[in-house]
Amino acid sequence: RTRVLTGITTTGTPHLGNYAGAIRPAIAASRREDVDAFFFMADYHALIKSDDPARVARSRLEIAASWLACGLDPERVTFYRQSDIPEIPELTWLLTCVTAKGLLNRAHAYKAAVDRNVETGEDPDAGVTAGLYMYPVLMAADILAFDAHKVPVGRDQIQHLEMARDIAQRFNHIYGEDFFVLPEVQIEEQVATLPGLDGRKMSKSYDNTIPLFAGGARALREAVMRIVTDSRLPGEPKDPESSSLYTLYRAFASDTDAAAFRSALESGLSWGEAKQALFDLLEGQIAPMRERYDALIAQPAHIEAILQDGARKARAIATPKMARLRDAVGLGSHV
Ligand code: TYM
Repeated sequence: RTRVLTGITTTGTPHLGNYAGAIRPAIAASRREDVDAFFFMADYHALIKSDDPARVARSRLEIAASWLACGLDPERVTFYRQSDIPEIPELTWLLTCVTAKGLLNRAHAYKAAVDRNVETGEDPDAGVTAGLYMYPVLMAADILAFDAHKVPVGRDQIQHLEMARDIAQRFNHIYGEDFFVLPEVQIEEQVATLPGLDGRKMSKSYDNTIPLFAGGARALREAVMRIVTDSRLPGEPKDPESSSLYTLYRAFASDTDAAAFRSALESGLSWGEAKQALFDLLEGQIAPMRERYDALIAQPAHIEAILQDGARKARAIATPKMARLRDAVGLGSHV
């Protein structure tokens, strides 16, 4: 059987990039008969980016409700919070001790923070926590604790997956046995990097996101209307390839509908009409899920029960795995 695993950091409210890049492909995979799926809220990762307890707590609930509203079946999927699995930070330490510091020096998020400091003439490590530096090791532990084969993510996570493989290989090599499966990234080319309002990657850190559920249909419409377009007038042909509107449309439409939208743009559809078409397409798919989301978010006790159950299922796998690893490194009992 194939194990599919993915997580979302709980620092905000889910956006269309999270949905198309991770949630949608992950749920599709979880419905296959030969798949065991593990989906989780990466709330330890959230502490690297946010020291606002209310924000982290709210985001954990919103992201859990979103997964469920988008069709995750907790009977089929092991669905949990990272912080409910103590084996994950425990494994993180074992992995830390075999991870080359030089590997972490190359991590994009850490490097970007250092580069920003250098550019502004600050001390290179100003404001950089050891948590940010260790981010890829914690993520490797998430994946390796469950021997995941496939990890559905957007393109921005490829480097983290490569690092998880490197770390797994290193551990297997040092301790002389195939303790860990080497995980593979699973990326849908069409949505690998969904653009945001300004054409850059849709990202919480760029503040250019289109919310999946937050704010309802009204916020969705307002966001779509704010997508940046060029100055071509109604009647003038538009270039679909350079337009994030088209990229967004294609990520949600059938091939036939996307082709029709493309020709309409090329024959002069106005940006206003194009935005309305994108909104209609999105709203058609999101509205039924949003209804479930609104019902779920009002029942935190129900969600809590599902997550507690998920944590039990996850630990039934992670606890024996961790015991074996403790033995392997020499931390088993004396008898
Ligand atoms: P996070 O929370 O930033 O994003 C969650 C998922 O959404 C995808 N994504 C996108 N995909 C396409 N286009 C976009 N614009 C876009 N923006 C976000 C991300 O690629 C990701 O798949 N480190 C991870 C969370 C994590 C994790 C893991 C993932 C922790 N442990 C183990 C997989 C396996 C993160 O911060 O994703």
